[in-house]
Amino acid sequence: MSAPDIVWKDGKFGQTSRRDAWWLSPTAILLGFGAFLVYANWAAFQNSHYTYGPYISPFYSPELFGSSPHALFGPKPRWYPNFLPFSPALFILWIPGLFRVTCYYYRGAYYKSFWADPPACAVSEPRKSYLGERTFPLIMQNFHRYFLRLSYIVWGFLVYDALRSFFFPEGFGIGIGSLVLVVNVVLLAGYVFGCHAFRHLIGGTFDQISDHPVRHKIYNFVSRLNAGHKKWAWASLLWVAFSDIYIRLCSMGIWHDWRIL
Ligand code: FES
Repeated sequence: MSAPDIVWKDGKFGQTSRRDAWWLSPTAILLGFGAFLVYANWAAFQNSHYTYGPYISPFYSPELFGSSPHALFGPKPRWYPNFLPFSPALFILWIPGLFRVTCYYYRGAYYKSFWADPPACAVSEPRKSYLGERTFPLIMQNFHRYFLRLSYIVWGFLVYDALRSFFFPEGFGIGIGSLVLVVNVVLLAGYVFGCHAFRHLIGGTFDQISDHPVRHKIYNFVSRLNAGHKKWAWASLLWVAFSDIYIRLCSMGIWHDWRIL
């Protein structure tokens, strides 16, 4: 594509000199991310069909309070307000949710897709003022580094869930669900450990990282993950939803968990 004339500043919304299908990517992201948000919110409020045998849905893990054998601290606590809907997912899903919402990649994607600010490079946007991420509310995107640390803890529990998924009441085994949960933690690892903020934590504070050989190796590995951050973000997003769907449909008796071993 040759360099387009810059018309985004004073043109009407959507006006551009671009001749390519610039709207395709923001529309696909709007539909894909929007569908995920709708499904994740629906699933989080169900408070049912989130476990099957040794499996637990990643939307509900770690289950702090709940009625399944996975619950760490027993059933719904007495102090929980009766007027609020109860679901184990509500205690935990906000961590990966806010981690994703504040992710550098997703910000770039949903600023274009959801807010059209701008809808694409060199395409006119619907508003003329840009407040940026230095003022409220977008300054809160800086909390990403803290959600990163909380997400490590959640990821650790998901690793535990993946290992536990091989232990059925009758002993060790491998079900399709075990593989689904293993793939889930691998894809999430690729996403979480390729995070821009994690890359900074590993090596961004050194003037010369080559003076620190171990950190340098880790930094290079994280950088490789970081280069494919968008792919890891989408693959892990879709798979985490699929993991919930798989366990939910098995629990409802619609799908049957095929045992390999
Ligand atoms: Fe995407 Fe941190 S920048 S997860």
